[in-house]
Amino acid sequence: MASKALLLALLGAVAVLGVTAEELSTSGRSLLATGFPYCACDNKAKHSPYRLTTAPSVSYMGQTWMCFTLYLNATGTSCSLPAGSRPACCDANLYKLEFDVDPACKGTSDLALLFKGYNTVVDGVTIQETVKTISIEVLDRTPAAAVLRISKGLEMPQAVLASFSSGLPVCFNRKPGFCTTTQLFMSPDSATYALFNTNKNCCPSGLAGPLNPPDQPKPNTYPSPPAAPLPPSPEPPSPSPMAGKRSPP
Ligand SMILES: *[C@@H]1O[C@H](CO)[C@@H](O)[C@H](O)[C@H]1NC(C)=O
Repeated sequence: MASKALLLALLGAVAVLGVTAEELSTSGRSLLATGFPYCACDNKAKHSPYRLTTAPSVSYMGQTWMCFTLYLNATGTSCSLPAGSRPACCDANLYKLEFDVDPACKGTSDLALLFKGYNTVVDGVTIQETVKTISIEVLDRTPAAAVLRISKGLEMPQAVLASFSSGLPVCFNRKPGFCTTTQLFMSPDSATYALFNTNKNCCPSGLAGPLNPPDQPKPNTYPSPPAAPLPPSPEPPSPSPMAGKRSPP
């Protein structure tokens, strides 16, 4: 109750002074963590180099997977300040990834595909293509809310992610008969994400988009779609009973 009164007082101060919640924060934590990521943690992207962007979807195990790339980008953040004066979350590790999703879409995804195409060990951390069981958790909140989360298998020091210059891929299956990508993420163009550290006091958040990035040219590993009819050949081969057989000299 006392903390609620304090919160209301702070909200009043925000309204009067026109400052942001982050500016009221003393320890680097946001004090007004009422919405996603539903946690009292520093969610400011400017206080962290962790970022997420979308990647083309992939076919894997007969399913369609929505893919994202985890990477580091400290440009435009406060993380270029010297250690000690920069926000603590600049030095956080990586532990879990969460998305804000529609509670009505529970069941849409039940597997995560980590690090597709990778099989290496960096600083003792195994970065290897793995499928993990996950679920969409519907939270006990009003209004209703849900998160799509991957934690097991994602934990790594920042230096490990930094060693992958193109970032690391994380994908989620989308089961047929459930929500579309835009229904799941409640947006036509982006997914709202948060990247937590193990202590869960850092949760840099942002928007990853576009939601359905165009496919990149891929090596021809999968069966091609049926070819379009060819235009008439200028010199059609004359029909012959010998067609397809070796002609005698
Ligand atoms: C890094 O962040 C800066 C500032 O937001 C942006 O201009 C730049 O494109 C980003 N670089 C990458 C590789 O995402």
